[in-house]
This record gives sequence, structure tokens and C-alpha cells, in this order.
Amino acid sequence: MKNESIVYLNGEFVPKSEARVPVEDRGFLFGDAVYEATPAYRGEPFLLDRHLARLSRGLAALRIDYEVGAMPEIHRRLIAENGLGGAPFSFVYVQVTRGVAPRGHAFPREPVPPTVYGFASPAVRPPRSRWEEGYAAVTVPDRRWGRVDVKVTSLVANVLAQQAAADAGVEDAILVRDGMALEGTHNNLFAVFDGAVTTSPASNYILHGITRGFVLERAEGLGIPVDERAIPVEELREADEVFFAGTTSEIRPTVEVDGRPVGTGRVGPVTRRLFDDFLEMTGGSGES
Ligand SMILES: Cc1ncc(COP(=O)(O)O)c(C=O)c1O
Repeated sequence: MKNESIVYLNGEFVPKSEARVPVEDRGFLFGDAVYEATPAYRGEPFLLDRHLARLSRGLAALRIDYEVGAMPEIHRRLIAENGLGGAPFSFVYVQVTRGVAPRGHAFPREPVPPTVYGFASPAVRPPRSRWEEGYAAVTVPDRRWGRVDVKVTSLVANVLAQQAAADAGVEDAILVRDGMALEGTHNNLFAVFDGAVTTSPASNYILHGITRGFVLERAEGLGIPVDERAIPVEELREADEVFFAGTTSEIRPTVEVDGRPVGTGRVGPVTRRLFDDFLEMTGGSGES
């Protein structure tokens, strides 16, 4: 990693300290923007086509006029410029805002070019010994809007929920809406009941995580039963295993929810099997 990172802004690769966005950018004023974060293993973006398809869907949902055609090259170059080509695990973040215009809620009358920003960063995978201890989570009311399947940068409800977890001294928050345990603040939630991997259906109440989809595919391939259905929070408390999945979380075992042990209180066999498979599929050793 070089001393100062190189970021992408509107067609240029510049040192981070030189990147400037005007104060009237609608991403700054309204969170009127979508983003994407893609993992890279040894410098190779993982499932990039799926991430870019989701970004395209988000742009269409927000009616932001931007084609993602240049994105693979932007990702490749951000990794290279930042010396991450050999990094075991890193990620690339990109965001596209509606652009710069005097503040007004409706879209600018005259279309303005979108603002496109990106950076690459090393990611941290905890040592396997830490992973084996498992992690703790608390349940938090889900106060987000009704289209969380769109990956918007307006994340204040996620920020407050993650802070509630931090205040409680745990790693993760489980967002609960109408009595259903939906997902985390930046990762999808899974529970194992009688050997079946269970997770919320891909509705507008969860982000359709790329890792989530991959884990479900791999589970099916491994002959592990899969059940996509809403999980009442009382049922979650009776789960044999709980884990999160996401780009930066990878697969993270939860051994305690709201101060009570999940199952035996230890990382379970289904979670471990899926994580071992995930490490194999991503070429990882389990240590960064
Ligand atoms: C709310 C939420 N759920 C789930 C995820 C996991 O999605 P992915 O696996 O595509 O990273 C994220 C990722 O940022 C997220 O913000």
C-alpha cells in the first residue's frame, strides 16, 4: 500500500487529498446517490458482474443516468494504483450521485452529470482463532425506509443501529421490522434450524446481498437445505446457529444474541462448513 491512496473522481485518478466534491453535490445534501462495495481477493474483484448489475438496478431505481460500462476498468485500476494487486483481501467502493445543483428536492430541471467517486482499501479478515470464538449481536428496531433493496448512500438508520451495537459492546446489530429479524446494518442475516440455512426472502426489506446469493448457491451445491423465509425474532432466539454474510464480513458466526447464547454458544458446524467452502472459493487461507 502506498502512503497516500489514489482515488477515482469523475474520470480521473488523483491522490485522495486532492479529490474535491462541491458542497452542492446532491450526494452531500440529500444522500441522493447509490454505492457499491466489491471484494477483491489477491487483486481480483470477486463476483464483480453481480455487483455491477445491482448498481445498475439502483441507478435505474433512482433514475440516475449513468452507464456502468467503465466500472470494471475503474476497479482494476484502483486496485493497481493502490498496490493491492497482491493483497489477500481488499475491496473497492464506488458511488454515483445525481450530481451538483442548487438545493431543491426534485431532480435538477437541466440534467447535470452524475458525480462518480471510487476508492480501494485493504480489508481485514480476523485470524481464524478469533473467528472460532464467534461474535455477539443485539436486536435493534429497523427504522430504514421501505426500499432498502436499493443500495443508497443515505445510511443514517444503519449508522444509528450499528452505534447501538457498539454502545452495547457487540459487533453486530440485527434489524427487526414487524417482529421479523431481517438483516444486519451491512450484512445479511442467516439462521440454521435443523440443518437448514434460513434467511429473509429477497424483498424490498433487505439488501439483496451478493454474498447472500453466493452463500445460498454454495449451500445448495453442498447439499445443505436452504429456506428463504421471514424469521420471527422469537424463532431466531431458538436457532441452532446464526451468522452474517457480506462483502467485508464474509461469513461471521454469531454465538450470542441480546446477551443469550445461540444454540450451544459455540460456532456451529453448518456455519463452519460454509466458511471453509467460502475460503476455498475465494482462494483464502483464513488469515489475511
Ligand atoms: C444492509 C446491508 N445488507 C447486506 C449487505 C451485504 O451485501 P453484499 O454481500 O453484497 O456485500 C450490505 C452490504 O453493504 C448491506 O449494507
